[in-house]
Amino acid sequence: MYVVSVINYKGGVGKTTLTANLGAELANRGMKVLLIDLDPQTSLTFSFYEPDDWRERLRDGRTVKRWYDGLRGDEAPVTLGELVVSPGPANAHLKGAGRIDLIASHLGLTDIDLALARGVADGDEYDAELFRVRGSLAEGLHDDALDSYDLVLIDCAPNFGVVTQSAIIASDHLLIPAKADYLSTLGIDYLHGNVRELCRQYNADSRRFATIRRHHKVAPGVAGVVFTMIQLMAQRPIAAHQGFMDQVRALGLPVLPTALRENVTLFATNTPRGVPVVLRDRITTPAVREELQQITTEFLAHLQPEPVAA
Ligand SMILES: Nc1ncnc2c1ncn2[C@@H]1O[C@H](COP(=O)(O)OP(=O)(O)OP(=O)(O)O)[C@@H](O)[C@H]1O
Ligand SMILES: [Mg+2]
Repeated sequence: MYVVSVINYKGGVGKTTLTANLGAELANRGMKVLLIDLDPQTSLTFSFYEPDDWRERLRDGRTVKRWYDGLRGDEAPVTLGELVVSPGPANAHLKGAGRIDLIASHLGLTDIDLALARGVADGDEYDAELFRVRGSLAEGLHDDALDSYDLVLIDCAPNFGVVTQSAIIASDHLLIPAKADYLSTLGIDYLHGNVRELCRQYNADSRRFATIRRHHKVAPGVAGVVFTMIQLMAQRPIAAHQGFMDQVRALGLPVLPTALRENVTLFATNTPRGVPVVLRDRITTPAVREELQQITTEFLAHLQPEPVAA
């Protein structure tokens, strides 16, 4: 099972859209995919469920907030496996034996970050609690009920709070959607630096607090930067976008060859709700679906284990 976090500090760069479509396309290719919505804005959840449905069936006890609450002792502990739901419309559109499941989110997830921030004083006690929470999702994903998934895709909030950190620590790979603009380009380098620093700290703490959790080294790699919302002219990214894409390549990060074009009609209107664009039968611009399919193929290629050096 691979665990991949879809992450960028910057808001509105297409993280949730990419998570939903990538997950859907992989499931359509026969994989068993679990999506985890770790953003209190709950946009990923609402790409698959009507708000009324979420309120009636999920809000009070079937979201990832419930799991973090159990972890903190605010409620009885539950396993991640107990929180999994299967969105009907998306699964009905799948061709083969694949499946797309979800652990939904909740606005109250912000409280987890806040509680930790004001919870314990500085010093060893704080460091131990931080270490415990940062490693919690990695631990929670070691759940027999989740063994059948080929891939877990985590949609992160646009911040670097402790919940986002727990996603990074749980991940084998990171996928970074980005817009081709100045701030996104700067942000990617900054994010990469912070991820390295987080892992360095976590690995050091892992030796220091070996009584809390058995030592294991984490080192998630970047599976790729995916450019989204690209404007095209004569089928090519406009010059301004191409420049920023080249800058990110120059950082040495793997940039997926295919970028996702901007198409407000297709992405901004969520109809029919619950079915990601890539699964829809009739769309006005089929090239968008092809781009999403190519991005999926390129992403999969990055997940293959590196050949072992002779
Ligand atoms: N390729 C695209 N073309 C046009 N609009 C898009 C495209 N991809 C996403 N959008 C729209 O842009 C907005 C932001 O996208 P999305 O929610 O996926 O970004 P995000 O990075 O998850 O945002 P946040 O940081 O708030 O979680 C949404 O309204 C979405 O429908
Ligand atoms: Mg989002």
